[in-house]
This record gives sequence, structure tokens and C-alpha cells, in this order.
Amino acid sequence: MPHQPAPFPASRPRRLRRDAFTRNLVREHALSAHDLILPVFVHEGRDKIEAVPSMPGVSRLSLDRLIPVAEECVELGIPVLALFPVIDPSLKTPDGREAMNPDGLVPRVVAALKEKVPSLGILTDVALDPYTSHGQDGVLDERGYIINDRTVEILGQQALAQARAGVDIVAPSDMMDGRIGAIRAQLEAYDHIHTRIMAYSAKYASAFYGPFRDAVGSAANLGKADKKTYQMDPGNSDEALREVGLDLAEGADMVMVKPGMPYLDIVRRVKEEFRVPTFAYQVSGEYAMLKAAAANGWLDHDAVMMESLLAFKRAGADGVLTYFALEAARLLRR
Ligand code: PBG
Repeated sequence: MPHQPAPFPASRPRRLRRDAFTRNLVREHALSAHDLILPVFVHEGRDKIEAVPSMPGVSRLSLDRLIPVAEECVELGIPVLALFPVIDPSLKTPDGREAMNPDGLVPRVVAALKEKVPSLGILTDVALDPYTSHGQDGVLDERGYIINDRTVEILGQQALAQARAGVDIVAPSDMMDGRIGAIRAQLEAYDHIHTRIMAYSAKYASAFYGPFRDAVGSAANLGKADKKTYQMDPGNSDEALREVGLDLAEGADMVMVKPGMPYLDIVRRVKEEFRVPTFAYQVSGEYAMLKAAAANGWLDHDAVMMESLLAFKRAGADGVLTYFALEAARLLRR
């Protein structure tokens, strides 16, 4: 039970809000650059930058253009870069086999980043949607249902290819059953005992992913289809705890809740129940909303950016994947 304050006027809560020094003194939560993970979109080519219209300020970058971004992350204290590939349409197949290619875009970019910017943590997405011709995160049966166990086998190979390229953290975002255990077994079998797994444990079938699907080019492949047979129902909360429990039992080191701001209640429940490193993903649609309102002059960009990120910390998150990472870290340094 929280301490019951004495009645007014002995208690005047405004005393502790009266001036900046007092507010600074009693503030319970703070954001630091170390809390931020920057998601980036990478494509083939040289000196190639393509803006993503639905995500103002975000571009698809070729490796040479990504290196300076990685260097700025180190300078600012951002610990981790999360890589999302934009795969050439000619390489997309129904089974997404390009995901397992040890010489594919992601393994090459991982190896180059670990060579050029070794102190920066690199996280890779484990999921098939950038690689499938239908834009789903798994292999389909003849009725269009995603086949769990066959998909999990491919994911294990994908994670292994990433680990061999030197990635620090693999982050399965596919929501297949049993994939954390299968990936952990693959990593152990080939002696990648230090590869960390950040599980997208409570990932909801959300409409807030729209701009991301534009960015990786899976929106057109997916068409009107949805991901409701594997991503979670937005009406559920207890189920998130079961998913987190399973992923931890299967070998996850860190767990994630996604999307972020509409699901802060889930972040709080997960943190209180499990007390493990817990992350939230402020997804593309959340970013797009704030950018759009700021561009119209309806919201103060920097103020809402920092407030939204601090809210994750207050809810119990240890860190946040956010497209604002660079802008926020630059502001924190000032
Ligand atoms: C795909 C994946 C998605 C995101 C991260 N990994 C989209 C989806 O599940 O359709 C969304 C991230 C964002 O919206 O910023 N496995």
C-alpha cells in the first residue's frame, strides 16, 4: 500500500513541483541514450538513399550510407542498431528461402558493420516477411494458413546465418509457436553461445505497422491479407503473459512488447510479472502519427517525442526501439 499523505494543507503536492531543481530532484524516471535502439532499413547498392514517404525523416540506405549512421549511434551512446532489409522483389519466393542465404543482404551488412563499427550492438530481425512473395511471416498451406513447424525450421536457419555473420542479438518477430526454443537449439548446436535473443513475445496484429510495410516493401505483397492467425489479438492481455513465459522458458534473454504506446499496460504487466529485461517497440505508425501532427503544427515535435519515450521507461521498459533514437539522443546530449 502506498504511503497515505496527510490531508491538505499539511500536504501540498505542488511544493515538489514549484521549481525546476525540485522537479529534477524528485523525478522517478529518466530517459538516456542507452535506452534507445535505432531501427534502420537497408537495401542493396551504393550511395543509395530512398525516403520512405509515410515515415518522414526515415530512409532506406545502402551499406555505405549506413556506416556513418552507425558511427553516430556510437558517438551518441545508442547501444544497438536494428537492421531491417529491403529485399529485391526478384528474390522473393513463397517460402522466403533467401532469408537463409549466408551471403544475403543481412549477413553481409552485419559482417561489414561489425568490422567497421565493432562497438555498436547489432540486432537482426528473424522473420520471413521481407523475403516472401506473399508478405506473410511464414510458409503457407494451400488454403493460405501459415504452417508453423516448417516456418520454424526456416527461422532457425535464418537465425544461424545471422549468428555466423556475427550478429549480437537476434530478434524473432514472426510469432510462430516454439521458435525461440528452435533458434536457441540451433545457436547452441553451432556454438553461438553468446548470441542474445530478444523475443518479440507480445506482438499484436496491429494496424500501426502500415508505414513499416511500406518501408520494407511487403505492403504490396501482403495486399488485403492480415496476420491475425499468428500475431496477438489486441483485446488480450493475460495471453501476453503466457507468451512471455513461453519465450523465457525456451531461452529468450530479453522480451519485447509491440506496438508501444497503445500497449503500455502490457509493458507494465510483463515487467511486474517477470522482472526480466523488457523492451517496447514504438512502431512505424506511432512515429508517423507524431511526425504528421508535428508537421502540421498541431504538436510540439521535440516535446511529444521525449514525453512518449519517457512514458515507456515509466511503464517499466528497460529500452525502446524507436525511429526517433537519433533525434532523441541528440537532444539528450544538449
Ligand atoms: C515483420 C515486422 C514488422 C515490424 C517489425 N518486424 C511488421 C509486421 O509484423 O507486419 C513492424 C515495425 C514497425 O511498424 O515499425 N516481422
